[in-house]
Amino acid sequence: MGPFMSDRKATIAFADQTAEFPIHSATLGNDAIDVKTLGDRGMYTLDEGFYSTAACESKITYIDGERGILLYRGYAIDDLAYHSDYLEVCYLLLQGELPTSDQKQQLSQQLQALYAVHEPIDQIFHAFSRDAHPMAMLLGAVGALSGFYHGKFNLKEPADRQLAALHLIAKMPTLAAMSYQYGKNQPFIKPEAASFAENFLNMLRAPAAKNTPIDPILIRAMDRIFTLHADHEQNASTTAVRTAGSTGASPFACIAAGISTLWGPAHGGANEAALMMLQKIGVEANIPEYIKKAKDKNDPFRLVGFGHRVYKNYDPRATVIRETCHEVLDALGKRDEPLFKLAMSLEKIALEDPYFIEKKLYPNIDFYSGIILSAMNIPTNLFTVIFTIARTVGWSSHWLELLNDPNYRLTRPRQVYTGKTKREVIPIESRDFD
Ligand code: CMC
Repeated sequence: MGPFMSDRKATIAFADQTAEFPIHSATLGNDAIDVKTLGDRGMYTLDEGFYSTAACESKITYIDGERGILLYRGYAIDDLAYHSDYLEVCYLLLQGELPTSDQKQQLSQQLQALYAVHEPIDQIFHAFSRDAHPMAMLLGAVGALSGFYHGKFNLKEPADRQLAALHLIAKMPTLAAMSYQYGKNQPFIKPEAASFAENFLNMLRAPAAKNTPIDPILIRAMDRIFTLHADHEQNASTTAVRTAGSTGASPFACIAAGISTLWGPAHGGANEAALMMLQKIGVEANIPEYIKKAKDKNDPFRLVGFGHRVYKNYDPRATVIRETCHEVLDALGKRDEPLFKLAMSLEKIALEDPYFIEKKLYPNIDFYSGIILSAMNIPTNLFTVIFTIARTVGWSSHWLELLNDPNYRLTRPRQVYTGKTKREVIPIESRDFD
C-alpha cells in the first residue's frame, strides 16, 4: 500500500456489478478513488476536460479554487510574492524547501553560469521570418536544444536530471529575449550576471540603453510576474510536460510540449488575447456592448482575462498582481492613459455585473499581467513568452517529481469509441458510390 493509500474504500455499482476501489488520501483537498482496475471489469470512467480526475499524486502545488488559495510547497502565494523572490521560489519548487542564503547564492551562480546558449542556436532564429510569433521561435529553439543536449544527460541519474532542469530555467529568458530582438531585427543581447528578472529586462533593451539603470519597481514587477506564474499544479501545459515525460523523452522536448500547450488563448495565451480584446473594445463607451456580447449564449465572444477553470473565487495571484499593476502604472505615470483607464472600467463593470458575479467570473492573473507588461512597453506578442519563462521552473519540478517516482507510469488514457462497428472492405470496382 502506498503512503497515501488509506484503508477506506469506495463502492461503485454499475450494470450488474458492485466493486470496491481504494481511496488515496490527500493532505489537503479532495481524496481520490483509484479506479485503475475498473477497466478489468469492462467499464471506464469518462471525464473529458478532467473536471474530476486526478492524473497523479503531487507534493508541489495546492489550489483550493473555492476559497482562492494557492500554495507552493505549503507556502501561500501572497506570502511568497511579498516576502520572497523568484529565485527562492525556484529553489522551493525544485527542492521542496526555501533556500538558506548560501543555497540561494549557489543557485544564483549556477543559473548565471548557464544563461548563455550555444552560438549555433542563433542560426535557428534566422530560419524564421522577422514577423514570426516569438512563441513559435521559442518553441523551435527549445526543441532544438534537445538536439544539442541529446545523450548528454543520463535521465536515470538524479544529478543529471537536476542539471537539465537548471539549463532550461536559465536559458529560457535568453531564448525569449532572442525571439524579441530577432523580431525587431536587432542584435541579440548577451545575458549578464544579474538577478533573473534584471538580466531578462536588460536583454530586451537596445545596447545603447545598457548603462542606464532599470527602475527597481519594474524589476520587482517582473520578478513578481515570474513568481506568480511559476507553477499552477496540473494545468494543461504541465499535464503535457508530464505526459511527454512519462514516455522518457528528452527534458527539452518535454518542455517544448509545455510551451506548445501554454500558447493557446484558453491558457497562457490569455494575457496576449486580453490586451488585444482591450484594444478592440477601444473606448469606455463600447464596454456595455462587449459585456452584452460576453453574456450572449449565441455569441462566441468571451471576456478574456475573466474566469478560470479552477478558481471560483478571486484568484489569489490576481489580488497581488492587481496591486503591482497599480504600482507600475503610477511609477510610469500611465494611470490616465486611455487603455489603462479602459481596463480599470472594464474590471469595475464586470465585478458589479450579476452575470459575472453569479458565474464567479473574476478577473484572472492574465488580465493584470497583460496591463503591466503593456505599460512597460513590452509588445503584446511577448506576453506568453514571459509566462513561459516563469512556468519553466514549475514544468521542470513536475518533470523531476515524475521521474523521481519509481512507480511512474506511461500516460495513456482510454477512450469511449463511438465510430463505426466492424465492416468489410469491398473491392473498389464493386463499390457503389451512389
Ligand atoms: N466571459 C463570458 N462568459 C464566460 C467566461 C468569460 N470569460 N468564462 C466563462 N464564462 C461562462 C461560460 O459561458 C459558461 O456559461 P454557462 O454556464 O451559461 O454555459 C460558464 O461561465 C462556465 O464556463 P466554462 O467554459 O464551462 O468554464 P471553464 O472552466 O471551462 O472555462 C476558461 C475556464 C478560463 C476557459 C473560461 O473562463 C474562459 O474562456 N475565460 C476567458 C479566457 C481566459 O481568460 N483564460 C485564462 C485563464 S487563466 C490562465 C491560466 O491559468 O492558464
